[in-house]
Amino acid sequence: MIKKCLFPAAGYGTRFLPATKAMPKEMLPVLSKPLIQYGVEEAMEAGLTEMAIVTGRGKRAIEDHFDISYELEHQIKGTDKEQALADIRHIINTCTFSYTRQIEMNGLGHAILTGETLIGQAPFGVVLADDLCIGEGEGVLSQMVALYHKYRCSIFAIEEVDPQETDRYGIIEGDNIADGVYIVKSMVEKPAPENAPTNLAVIGRYILTPDIFDILRETKPGKNGEIQITDALQTQAKNGMVIAYKFRGIRYDCGSLEGYVKATTELFRKMQEARE
Ligand code: G1P
Repeated sequence: MIKKCLFPAAGYGTRFLPATKAMPKEMLPVLSKPLIQYGVEEAMEAGLTEMAIVTGRGKRAIEDHFDISYELEHQIKGTDKEQALADIRHIINTCTFSYTRQIEMNGLGHAILTGETLIGQAPFGVVLADDLCIGEGEGVLSQMVALYHKYRCSIFAIEEVDPQETDRYGIIEGDNIADGVYIVKSMVEKPAPENAPTNLAVIGRYILTPDIFDILRETKPGKNGEIQITDALQTQAKNGMVIAYKFRGIRYDCGSLEGYVKATTELFRKMQEARE
């Protein structure tokens, strides 16, 4: 059983300045819910209840969010506003949260390695909260957990992107062995469109086997001089097997203003339709 889910959440969120000057980007709301809560709910739905969050300076609001706020809850007790906290209450009662700090920013691979102390020696999920995923039928992590039980190796989510935008993603090449399932042959971090082998891009959902930590320790700085999880997964794929999974659902790139506005608009419309 996979129980732990890692949330790398130390990044600065410079694309959202000035909003993220004093507030973590993971706390930006889509409708009235912060991005990281969507990720935690997706993990919970997949049966993962031990949340491990890699934070950094200026991220205290995340810890406060997944905690009780006595004064506020006392104030709204018995009013119709109480309902607004029901979901987060349920999360706090069901999950545990542990935190560690990333002292220096040195890439996603480095952030994941920083989380080792919270994860230990079991397979675990990874959610990048700024990729907001709405699964079709079931959540994206649930779909991936089911696949993990079949293949027992590291798995990550992919989708087809605009071939002109390959330099924003890890890009893979693989053998399509089943509906949406690829065995990874090679992968490269953020290639220019002319160097990209395909337009199959890595999305911020991973299930990793714990040997990834030893591989990350040995992984040399790659793109932008940072330790890349893409490079570590490439090593894992060469030494054994890694699966890329074209998930059922929609993903919004809430790390960009355009994707963030799209998520907000579409989820607002869905909320209104559900009310009608
Ligand atoms: C990271 C990964 C990249 C992946 C992307 C998904 O990049 O390094 O391989 O495609 O997440 O969102 P970042 O968006 O942190 O630059």
